[in-house]
Amino acid sequence: MGRALAPLPANLTFLSLLLLFLPLAARLRPLEALDFQLGPFDPSSDYKTLEVVYPATIANKALQVTPDSAGNFTLQNQSGRILYRQGFKLWDGPSTAPTKLASFNTSFVINIFRVNGNSTPGEGLAFIVAPDLNLPAGSSGGYLGLTNATTDGHDSNRLLAVEFDTFKQDYDPDANHIGLDINSVRSSQNVSLAGLGFQLAPNVTKFFHVWIDYDGGGKVLKVYMIDEDESTPTKPKPASPIMKASLDTSKVVSQNSYFGFAASTGGNVELNCVLSWNLTVEDLPKDGDLPAGLVIGLAVGIPAAAAVLVGAAVLGFRVRRRRAAANDPNILGTLKSLPGTPKEFEFRDLKRATGNFDERNKLGQGGFGVVYKGVLATENRQVAVKKFSRGDLKSKDDFLAELTIINRLRHRHLVPLLGWCHKKGMLLLVYDFMPNGSLDSHIFCGPERQTLGWSHRYKIVSGVASALHYLHDEYDQKVVHRDLKASNVMLDSNFNARLGDFGLARAIDNEKTSYAELEEGVPGTVGYIAPECLHTGKATRESDVFGFGAVILEVVCGQRPWNRAGFGGFQFLVDWVWSLHREGRILEAVDERLGGDYAEEEARRLLLLGLACSHPTAAERPKTPAIVQILSGSVDAPRVPPFKPAFVWPSASPLMEIGDTTDVTPMTSSQFGSGWTPRYASKESDAGYNNSSPV
Ligand SMILES: *[C@@H]1O[C@H](CO)[C@@H](O)[C@H](O)[C@H]1NC(C)=O
Ligand SMILES: *[C@@H]1O[C@H](CO)[C@@H](O)[C@H](O)[C@H]1NC(C)=O
Ligand SMILES: *[C@@H]1O[C@H](CO)[C@@H](O)[C@H](O)[C@H]1NC(C)=O
Ligand SMILES: *[C@@H]1O[C@H](CO)[C@@H](O)[C@H](O)[C@H]1NC(C)=O
Ligand SMILES: *[C@@H]1O[C@H](CO)[C@@H](O)[C@H](O)[C@H]1NC(C)=O
Ligand SMILES: *[C@@H]1O[C@H](CO)[C@@H](O)[C@H](O)[C@H]1NC(C)=O
Ligand SMILES: *[C@@H]1O[C@H](CO)[C@@H](O)[C@H](O)[C@H]1NC(C)=O
Repeated sequence: MGRALAPLPANLTFLSLLLLFLPLAARLRPLEALDFQLGPFDPSSDYKTLEVVYPATIANKALQVTPDSAGNFTLQNQSGRILYRQGFKLWDGPSTAPTKLASFNTSFVINIFRVNGNSTPGEGLAFIVAPDLNLPAGSSGGYLGLTNATTDGHDSNRLLAVEFDTFKQDYDPDANHIGLDINSVRSSQNVSLAGLGFQLAPNVTKFFHVWIDYDGGGKVLKVYMIDEDESTPTKPKPASPIMKASLDTSKVVSQNSYFGFAASTGGNVELNCVLSWNLTVEDLPKDGDLPAGLVIGLAVGIPAAAAVLVGAAVLGFRVRRRRAAANDPNILGTLKSLPGTPKEFEFRDLKRATGNFDERNKLGQGGFGVVYKGVLATENRQVAVKKFSRGDLKSKDDFLAELTIINRLRHRHLVPLLGWCHKKGMLLLVYDFMPNGSLDSHIFCGPERQTLGWSHRYKIVSGVASALHYLHDEYDQKVVHRDLKASNVMLDSNFNARLGDFGLARAIDNEKTSYAELEEGVPGTVGYIAPECLHTGKATRESDVFGFGAVILEVVCGQRPWNRAGFGGFQFLVDWVWSLHREGRILEAVDERLGGDYAEEEARRLLLLGLACSHPTAAERPKTPAIVQILSGSVDAPRVPPFKPAFVWPSASPLMEIGDTTDVTPMTSSQFGSGWTPRYASKESDAGYNNSSPV
């Protein structure tokens, strides 16, 4: 029937929008904090709590972040780090749309000491938030123990620092300043201290008491500072900060990060001492303490046949609409009268439902707007109301036209829409509220938490497959999802998979800002992107299948597709699983958290299917009809070669929509005007590789 119908419009803004998933967490508990107070430092106990990275030491009741003159060290060209051994969770929710940022406060007393009276000091000391407990090699001199010549400026450093810099490099304002360093010693913000009457490293012993407060709600970092003559501070915290910066920590640091200090010397030296240190970090729940998300969707799907009929009717209507004048006043009425169409809500009802969009009802924030929890008074029904940050989307007619298309996509494993409201250019979408989360929050949890059982996992994979099959083959126009990954799979109250998020960034033409935000340093998508996409820039059904393969492996192995630390020597999960397959022990890839409690045949089937879907050659990947059959057990698991075939480009076989030239997917990247760019390819090996929406 597809040929008889009008093609979908190129711009599927609302298809994307309406199926947009916002991972959310409602946390209504009071602030709980983890904290410690350290100092004066004692080598006999503090070496246990602190990671003292050579050549840093604990001596003279202080942290000597670079060596103390008492040691057997040369003082020149040194760098060191001392970090609190325990990591802290600094944000909650998926990397693409964190739902909460942990606030933290720290205060410490430092002394930067000139070794020889009037010699020039160098280089500086910094308070840091780092992704691990390591010190980069080659980080002496101007690198302050933060970065080195190779890594400086890379998002993959995931490093946040407040530097106390005593030596002027060509990128520094002077030799006596503080700076906010984000992945680089080239500060994103600096404050010269001379004007404030402070000298970090005078030729006498001077102590500075520093407070760094980060408010995760307001996303603001403030630094306060006062000088003291004694190592035990006496003066109160000043009323106003000397530096204030807006900062979204989730865009910079690792979800689990470490706090501490780094310092360096160069040709000029100084002692970089910390005499006492307090830290308080807001305690975010560990993954899964609470239902960590929100499922957007209707509980009951429309039977497929009815959906097709409704869909056809709606499309027929849409075609007529196109012929008619664009501002036909009857459009709205017609739309409203169609069965199964998401309902139009009154703005004032949504306002009331959400308590006038009260902060306290805020469930989370995505790249495109804020989601509020609400209760519809008339039905006493819990809903999630998504308010888009910008209203300059489309004309109302275009909006309605697109709504009709979205409305046609109905499947019990897709996230559907309850209703909408479009008022004065402002757009709100209404979804059913479900107090359950996205797949990733259930499978990437620590050992302390009960993880999803095997039967649920199998059911979820099958659900995703069936949604994909619907989009790729059953629906009369082929639709490509483009962004398959665990965080885009929601689970309803029965742990049925619901596929959401049809590609964020393409959704809103004018949303350059949030798009840019999405691109920042979140390694969420490494491993989901089919290799040929880096060349063609086109999302295809085959590239969707590749992403599906990654999801299968995640679900079975309980691991993300890519891991800095690696899997048995492999950086990509798929390579590791493939090696286990070759060695005839593929079941060793199954998530250990299942404790062996799984069906071996099913696990083997899923893993082999996951590998088959991860085939580097697009044409070799199974198609969704076969996938659905394999999952149902009616067809054997695919044969997988012992070695992962090499990716060859250009491919010998055609890539796009093999054997199917007319039903070309309407959703290719070119139609959204932003193809893949070389930087994705060049960043392939880089941990800072972007997140979800590469196009
Ligand atoms: C001092 O350094 C030298 C050379 O690195 C080494 O042989 C010696 O054992 C060190 N002495 C102490 C007390 O650490
Ligand atoms: C420290 O590094 C500088 C610059 O690399 C070099 O010129 C100097 O010789 C080094 N000093 C020592 C003691 O290694
Ligand atoms: C940090 O300090 C501020 C101001 O004293 C306080 O309001 C806030 O609750 C503190 N945050 C934490 C995480 O302790
Ligand atoms: C740490 O906290 C204690 C108790 O509040 C306080 O006495 C001390 O001055 C603090 N130290 C620093 C470095 O702020
Ligand atoms: C910089 O640090 C990284 C890792 O920390 C290391 O692999 C690299 O070799 C270092 N580069 C230099 C120039 O020391
Ligand atoms: C330091 O900060 C000032 C603004 O506070 C800015 O104008 C200047 O460019 C910065 N200097 C450097 C070297 O980053
Ligand atoms: C410290 O420096 C000041 C000027 O900056 C100088 O007058 C004084 O003599 C110096 N003191 C010592 C102990 O070197």
